Amino acid sequence: MKASENKAKLSFTNGSPDVELPIYHGTMGPDVIDIRKLYGQTGMFTYDPGFLSTASCESAITYIDGDKGELLYRGYPIEQLAQKCDYLDTCFLLLYGELPDAQQRDKFHKLVNSHTMVNEQMQFFLRGFRRDAHPMAVLTGLVGGMSAFYHESTDIHNPRHRDVAAIQLIAKMPTLVAMAYKYGVGEPYVYPNNALSYSGNFLRMMFGTPCEEYKVNPVLEKALDRIFILHADHEQNASTSTVRLCGSSGTNPFAAIAAGVACLWGPSHGGANEACLNMLEEIQAMGGIAKVGEFMEKVKDKNSGVKLMGFGHRVYKNYDPRAKLMQETCNEVLQELGLEKDPLFALAKALEKIALEDDYFVQRKLYPNVDFYSGIVQRAIGIPVKLFTGLFALARTVGWIAQLNEMIGDPEYKIGRPRQLFVGPARRNIP
Ligand code: CMC
Repeated sequence: MKASENKAKLSFTNGSPDVELPIYHGTMGPDVIDIRKLYGQTGMFTYDPGFLSTASCESAITYIDGDKGELLYRGYPIEQLAQKCDYLDTCFLLLYGELPDAQQRDKFHKLVNSHTMVNEQMQFFLRGFRRDAHPMAVLTGLVGGMSAFYHESTDIHNPRHRDVAAIQLIAKMPTLVAMAYKYGVGEPYVYPNNALSYSGNFLRMMFGTPCEEYKVNPVLEKALDRIFILHADHEQNASTSTVRLCGSSGTNPFAAIAAGVACLWGPSHGGANEACLNMLEEIQAMGGIAKVGEFMEKVKDKNSGVKLMGFGHRVYKNYDPRAKLMQETCNEVLQELGLEKDPLFALAKALEKIALEDDYFVQRKLYPNVDFYSGIVQRAIGIPVKLFTGLFALARTVGWIAQLNEMIGDPEYKIGRPRQLFVGPARRNIP
């Protein structure tokens, strides 16, 4: 970061001396005021629950311009990555800062592919879960459990070791997600086939059985790969910040990523794709497009507690660029599967049209986010609704680990330790 000539001056009405605070420029985006010495100088903290105005770190990975609706991974627009690269190229970019050349690409793809298998004991670990357990509960456990299988020799301060953990996680997540699914439906696990692409392999582990050959459909393979690219990273969102905070204590990377999985599960974050599809199904059951107006009235009524899931974003105050790409993929997948007339897709488009013209949404700058269409694509591919967030976790793993490794590699990193404004009882004595 570059210090600016400009400084911020904080003055107080009670006559306390002014405090001058440095300002830094990033490559793009808003400048930041460095408040690290504020407590030392004034004895006061800043107050920003929900991090509405707080940059928690410096990062060179992902940039979002929420007003323009722009998303860049290491400087490259998401639209170009979605069209010209595959998910593993994107992983390489997020981890190492540049797109791979032909040789690096080949080496990286082989490296990830050669680590797809998980320790055989993992399947016995899975047996402890009820068959109807939510896949996110299972995944949180499995990913945390990886620390018992793969962490022994990990020295998180050694960049080479961090890299190995990154590859292990990226390679094994599809296997774990597919195992969580197979366990739930009571089918045998399908071992990975390393000759297939990352998403092709995942499709086979999900929908193949030992009884017959599984042929990967290239349209679905491409669609899934795009879903993975679009979800790969999103700067300091709730789950990524969770991973950073968790990892800042020096814990092992698998445990930190498990914390990210747990955070992602919530309906305001990754769980929105599941919640969005459930919402569409609910409106469909109420009577479909004819009932959209009635549903929208509920959304606008603050007392109803109903939100239009898949709409709105803390950072995007314009169309989420991922939603546009996802809508395109949705068209391709539904056409491939002969589902062009899918009523939920028609319903989603009707809802979007009404919302984009409605004052409530216009005034609050609420636009569709990535989750608005991703559920429809996933459902068409055959992914069960409860597993949607699991796929998000699979794809986001690279972002989490890239951000975690960036933090640990920074010589200035410290354990994350926010402070508070205490409003409970002052010191008192038991009578
Ligand atoms: N439906 C109806 N009203 C909404 C919605 C929505 N989906 N989103 C925000 N609002 C209203 C909100 O009630 C508030 O109104 P008012 O100013 O009158 O009180 C205003 O818009 C601003 O919202 P906010 O709650 O201050 O915004 P936030 O930045 O705290 O929340 C959000 C962002 C994503 C949690 C929220 O928009 C939301 O809950 N959306 C639905 C869930 C969803 O789709 N989440 C996926 C996010 S994208 C995937 C990911 O990155 O995880």
